[in-house]
Amino acid sequence: MGGIVRADHLAIAQEFSAAASAWPVPPRFDPVERWYHRLTLTDDYEVWLLTWLPGQGTEIHDHGGSAGAFYLHSGTLVEDTVSVRDRTPRVASRELGEGAGRRFGSHHIHRIENRSSRPAISVHVYGPALTSMTKYRLSPAGLEVLTVERAGAQW
Ligand SMILES: [Fe+2]
Repeated sequence: MGGIVRADHLAIAQEFSAAASAWPVPPRFDPVERWYHRLTLTDDYEVWLLTWLPGQGTEIHDHGGSAGAFYLHSGTLVEDTVSVRDRTPRVASRELGEGAGRRFGSHHIHRIENRSSRPAISVHVYGPALTSMTKYRLSPAGLEVLTVERAGAQW
């Protein structure tokens, strides 16, 4: 099938990370609320810059059907990927250091956290742009929906 070019979200994230001098704002760190800034929005994807102080992280969430990727501009983050098999949630953790990144599919559920002692900066790509996302929590009953949110806050 010719003519269809799928964007490589990880390559886009990497490109934006490498172009830090062109970011419209310098990254800031906010101890009260994680700082984020949208770098670009196209018909096919959006790119966000996020900062993480030690201890800051997301809740467990999906991306409302968007796929994407994230890339570590600096620092180290841990991603906990949650998968459910036979109603039993499993959590797989991986650490991503500076220059590491990964793509995720449209059904990916994860949480990201800075469990290191240094601040981290990451670039996140979502395609298509986020419209909604669901937050979850792990409970004895499995993966429980907490809230469904319109896009706005970034993950
Ligand atoms: Fe996410």
